[in-house]
Amino acid sequence: MVGKLGILLSGRGSNFLAIADHIASGRLQANIAIVISNRADAPGIAAAQARGCKTAVIPSKGRERSGHDAEVVAALRAAEVDLVVLAGYMRLLSAEFVGAFPQRILNIHPSLLPAFPGLDAQQQALDYGAKITGCTVHFVDDQLDHGPIIVQRPVPVLPGDSVAALSARILKEEHIAYSEAIALVLARKCEIQGRCVAVRG
Ligand code: GRF
Repeated sequence: MVGKLGILLSGRGSNFLAIADHIASGRLQANIAIVISNRADAPGIAAAQARGCKTAVIPSKGRERSGHDAEVVAALRAAEVDLVVLAGYMRLLSAEFVGAFPQRILNIHPSLLPAFPGLDAQQQALDYGAKITGCTVHFVDDQLDHGPIIVQRPVPVLPGDSVAALSARILKEEHIAYSEAIALVLARKCEIQGRCVAVRG
């Protein structure tokens, strides 16, 4: 059975597009059941519509988290998704949301966690003087950028790097890492043992 993805985004949507491209080329065995944005003006939701994906905009502005999350969970359930994929979704998930899809929510973050969680991870890496940063795909738990790690890809910080240049190099790796992690999870090759993810095969 081909796994059904529910993708949540708030912005540009390049990770969504990379996943969609990997599916279209047959490199990732999955279907995108629905793409949901909390922002009507997210370029990613326009891109999803242009690709013919089922989409929904569920605005979050000015709403209580619990009510908004309940609506998003209902939309994901109605689309019968197997895996929830956060792709630049700029919202913290409530415990109820995380509990609705146990070990079935993934996030991507532009650093090698646990270094530089939160916003502006690339700027944080530059400010800290890190020589290597990268990206991390992890299961989502109830803490920010914290759950068990599935895939990481390193990226060197180069002398004279700008945030834009570093972010672009990290993004290229994100586009590889996310589909790799999704494939592992859908194939049930990941076993969570405490903080660690054992990958079979
Ligand atoms: C990526 O850098 C991702 O790691 C972070 O948000 C950004 C989303 O980019 N969580 P895009 O919208 O997928 O282009």
